[in-house]
Amino acid sequence: MREILLAVKNTKMVKSKRVILDVPLLELRHGEVLSLMGHNGAGKSTLLKILALLQVPTQGNVYFKGEEVSNSNVLKFRRQMAAVLQEPLLLDTTVYKNAAVGLQLRKVDRKEVNKRVMHWLERLGVEHLAKYSVRNLSGGEAQRVSLARALVLEPQVIFLDEPFSALDTPTRESLLAELRDILYEQSMTAVFVTHDYREIPQLANRVVELSQGKILHQGTPEKVLKYKLNKVV
Ligand SMILES: Nc1ncnc2c1ncn2[C@@H]1O[C@H](COP(=O)(O)OP(=O)(O)O)[C@@H](O)[C@H]1O
Ligand SMILES: [Mg+2]
Repeated sequence: MREILLAVKNTKMVKSKRVILDVPLLELRHGEVLSLMGHNGAGKSTLLKILALLQVPTQGNVYFKGEEVSNSNVLKFRRQMAAVLQEPLLLDTTVYKNAAVGLQLRKVDRKEVNKRVMHWLERLGVEHLAKYSVRNLSGGEAQRVSLARALVLEPQVIFLDEPFSALDTPTRESLLAELRDILYEQSMTAVFVTHDYREIPQLANRVVELSQGKILHQGTPEKVLKYKLNKVV
């Protein structure tokens, strides 16, 4: 089995005196594409933000390559991660600058920035929009730009929180297929949140189903989705 990249142990998140997440153990191995599924309010985004080191749990620890995450190393680890959220949160500037911003913050050399940005804009089919403002992009184009912005970072792990759920069906399906190809080509480790389990077989090789902040089921998509189908009939 591959090495563990990321783990949470004895993790609880308490908000407004309510335990919204309670996960004794979750491990993510190199190259795994893990899907977090569950209804609205199940705790998916909370767990994703804890794994992505964007939120500190009330209790418990996060480990990156076996090292406990703390105030002193969190920035170093976060630089090896990238996130794409449901709302693209693009800056009011050009497509190119939006895709480049993360690399510029990391002080990457201008030539290298240009090379990586153009590569990923092209791979995502939006290179013709590079000089345009993001203001007039369609929802699908905006998500292509936010995927490019994450992928140019060449992260060790990418987090995707319902990235395509606001898009129409044909756009969502083509983006899912493209994302799957990219993740497998790059052997990239990923955590993909969805409340729509039909998206899972296309993408994930492991599924964790959350309900009321707890892990209800986990395993291969076949195993977890078979259970879902059995429950329906
Ligand atoms: N900052 C917060 N304060 C209070 N409750 C919160 C906060 N953030 C999330 N919650 C609650 O925690 C639960 C899980 O939220 P979330 O992780 O966003 O779920 P999901 O992404 O699965 O829809 C929800 O019931 C939500 O209302
Ligand atoms: Mg959510």
